Amino acid sequence: MDLDQGKIDGLNNGKIPIYEPGLDQLVIRNHQAGRLHFTTDTAAAVKQSDVVFIAVGTPERRGDGAADLSYVFDAAKTVARNMDGFTVVVTKSTVPVGTGARVAEIIRQENPDADFAMASNPEFLREGSAIEDFMRPDRVVIGCENEKARAILKELYRPLYLIETPILFTNIPTAELTKYAANAFLATKIMFINQIANLCEAVGADVHHVSKGMGLDRRIGGKFLHPGPGYGGSCFPKDTAALASTAREHGESISIVENVIEANRWQKQRMTTKVRTALDNQVRGVTIGVLGLTFKPNTDDMRDSAALTILPALIADGATVRAYDPEGMEEAKEKMPDLVYCQDAYEACQGVDVVIILTEWNQFRNLDLKRIQAGMKARPDGRYLFCDFRNIYEPPTMVAAGFHYVGVGR
Ligand code: UGA
Repeated sequence: MDLDQGKIDGLNNGKIPIYEPGLDQLVIRNHQAGRLHFTTDTAAAVKQSDVVFIAVGTPERRGDGAADLSYVFDAAKTVARNMDGFTVVVTKSTVPVGTGARVAEIIRQENPDADFAMASNPEFLREGSAIEDFMRPDRVVIGCENEKARAILKELYRPLYLIETPILFTNIPTAELTKYAANAFLATKIMFINQIANLCEAVGADVHHVSKGMGLDRRIGGKFLHPGPGYGGSCFPKDTAALASTAREHGESISIVENVIEANRWQKQRMTTKVRTALDNQVRGVTIGVLGLTFKPNTDDMRDSAALTILPALIADGATVRAYDPEGMEEAKEKMPDLVYCQDAYEACQGVDVVIILTEWNQFRNLDLKRIQAGMKARPDGRYLFCDFRNIYEPPTMVAAGFHYVGVGR
């Protein structure tokens, strides 16, 4: 259920409000088979349910970086007023430690007779590969100390997961903290390799080889060691900020995470500086072709995307930006109306002084480089400037093809 009538009407007509590969078929199939229903009628939805998942947004609160829990608490009140018989209330939203207890308190206040148990069941899927991640998770974490509720949740997940999928039962604060700790650790891994990448540039090393050499050590692991323009999205930026804020509230400091947040901000600025330097600090009057705007491929999500930091800075320097993104342009247009939005990659690179890759969509991995070059303006040395901030091309190939190639850490 959702309060947004437009969203529910759309879903009932097979219209998915976000872009996520495969989600449309999955939703339509189950909806048509009568296994999945969409409604704004909260009372009826809650009354029928043995388990209610609260999966509303928890945006970053302005000012202190803490998570804004107002949507979670509103949902809890609605659930409390309408539950009928023993109900397991699960927080699926990423919520700071202690929220489960506060939600239980709100439910008890709202409905002193409520027969319910609280559980925290954080979600670990990634946008763009949400279905695969959800169907084949490395683990399921459930914070719940009520035996009856644990049995219900175990039974709920049993048909979905392979026998070997570990289900970790903990108490609620542990499950809540596990989610933040996992995201903050992944963000730390990314920023670690980004800073190593920056050092690689200074010492003439290749960060891809460093990353591989590190990642083959099973204690480290090779994933999330890909350098780039810093992390974005709806999760890492807000979750790192919320974890740091929770620590401060409890008189603790997770200084590593504070540094990661700062390093991420700096990494995005560093990308802007790289473009300026490559243009000999003459940005005024320059035209820039940008490929990719979303915070990662296979999503239309622009939240905290590197593009939102880098492009306005270059426009303020006096550049004109032409851009193309396969799915993100609608949202991008609202956030950055000053860009010239194009129909495809080649149109975006037409007449430009420099091409910048900001998101590694598959369709940018095998561009017709001759065609790109033919539309570009050459630099004074006769070469064509190409900033690949996702490292999807090989530097020697690009140099041989006549480009002045700027990657990250190689
Ligand atoms: C992230 C986590 O990976 C999920 O496990 C978690 O469930 C989710 O947040 C959440 O809390 O809901 P997501 O933000 O969808 O998932 O996407 P990621 O694939 O983690 O990418 C986040 C950002 O990090 C992107 O901007 C991406 O480009 C960047 N990144 C990722 C790198 O720069 N390098 C890498 O090696 C990996």
